[in-house]
Amino acid sequence: MFTPPFSSDAMFHRKSLLPVINPDKAGNPLKHPAPKAPRIFADSATRSEIEPLFRAGIVNGITTNPTLLKKAGAKSWGEAKEIMKDLCALLKPHPVSLELTELAEDAMVRQASELSELGENSIIKVPIGGYRAVNPAADPYTGLKVIRRLWERGIKVNTTLIFNTTQALWAANAGATYVSPFLGRLADYGYKHDQPGRTPGNSLYWVEDPKNAKGDQVMHNSEYVASGGALKDAGARLIFEISTVFANYQIKTEILAASFRNPVQLTECLLAGADILTVPAAVLATVADHPLSDEGMKAFAEDSKAFGK
Ligand code: E4P
Repeated sequence: MFTPPFSSDAMFHRKSLLPVINPDKAGNPLKHPAPKAPRIFADSATRSEIEPLFRAGIVNGITTNPTLLKKAGAKSWGEAKEIMKDLCALLKPHPVSLELTELAEDAMVRQASELSELGENSIIKVPIGGYRAVNPAADPYTGLKVIRRLWERGIKVNTTLIFNTTQALWAANAGATYVSPFLGRLADYGYKHDQPGRTPGNSLYWVEDPKNAKGDQVMHNSEYVASGGALKDAGARLIFEISTVFANYQIKTEILAASFRNPVQLTECLLAGADILTVPAAVLATVADHPLSDEGMKAFAEDSKAFGK
């Protein structure tokens, strides 16, 4: 499991600069003992999953994306918008991230205005990059340009598909309110591609160097990934890198850790300094459990029978 090498004073100071951290249902600072705990969002577009979690005070935000909307049953853009509008109304005043599906700058800005009208608590989710993967002629700065234009219009942005620290920094520089590093997908990639017999590391580091006569692979693409080390930890180390850089420069853009696969990754992100965790309902369902809690409860339930209840 990832454990950070240090927790800097700068990180603590940055946290103190952030606005309301863990608000009550009305959006005000909580008066209970953990008002500065990280916020927990539901990574879902399915009302039946989200509503009980929200009513119980377990989540106070939502992140959606086209995949989650399709899973929630949307079969057209009109149906997707109905679902997003309903979720905004349910969560108000808490943030609900709604992702752009347009791919060209002007169309994205227009669609952001359309989505903003679905709720005043809507946050526009803008992919940081990947535009040339869909259209080789696309401008690689499309996402950054859209973020800047939305910031100029006072529209809050959650920058999505963040896989390294430079993407997070540039998104913040463009004016993003949130950045969403996908730690689970980095871990998935490591599991899938790391080669046995090589120094353990994130395989994204291993890039063929055509100039190497021996045909060896070398680590040179440090701008592409978070950092080296045990393959499963790349996502958590990415969160730690971003939170350290944001603390060093007092960047208030919030780090919204995303793409969770298990509760261990939640702990890793908390140690690494994430501001918000967006968690699938299936992972949230595990957070109150532990085998020793089960054992303890069975014993307490058995022994309480002695009281005649
Ligand atoms: C975050 O905002 C994304 O919706 C989400 O976390 C992606 O997770 P996945 O890797 O499970 O698709």
